[in-house]
Amino acid sequence: MINETVISDLCRKAIDMRSESYAPYSDFLVGSAVLLSDGTVYTGCNIENSAFDPSICAERTAIFKAVSEGHKDFAAIAIAGGKRDGELQYCAPCGVCRQVMREFCGDSFKIYLAKSADDYKEFTLGELLPESFGPENLE
Ligand code: THU
Repeated sequence: MINETVISDLCRKAIDMRSESYAPYSDFLVGSAVLLSDGTVYTGCNIENSAFDPSICAERTAIFKAVSEGHKDFAAIAIAGGKRDGELQYCAPCGVCRQVMREFCGDSFKIYLAKSADDYKEFTLGELLPESFGPENLE
């Protein structure tokens, strides 16, 4: 179990990261914060590109930052997204980000869709990506 204070802090970090979002094309700002099982947090934001394809979501930015520094023991991720001048939504991860989570995250991994530090929806990866393809398929 992840305690409420830790979840609220994670949600707050995801919300704060929206200020780093580079989203001039969609105007949809997303921040994320991924929690490792040792308590370390890596953050990310979406980074768009004028050629569109090279854009990356906030979730993958945070996860890849952690993986590139040698960390793969993920416990949870908080995601905060919404239009630049609008209210935060319960912003669910795209299919590509769900598949990236599937690579590294197990059954206990939690996904928080945050509208504020204490208004969030909680999901497991199995709920968001049922009947999935993963590393075991290639063993
Ligand atoms: N986006 C994310 O960063 N995460 C999500 O969960 C959904 C979508 C980004 C991608 C793009 O920069 C913008 O939001 C609009 O799709």
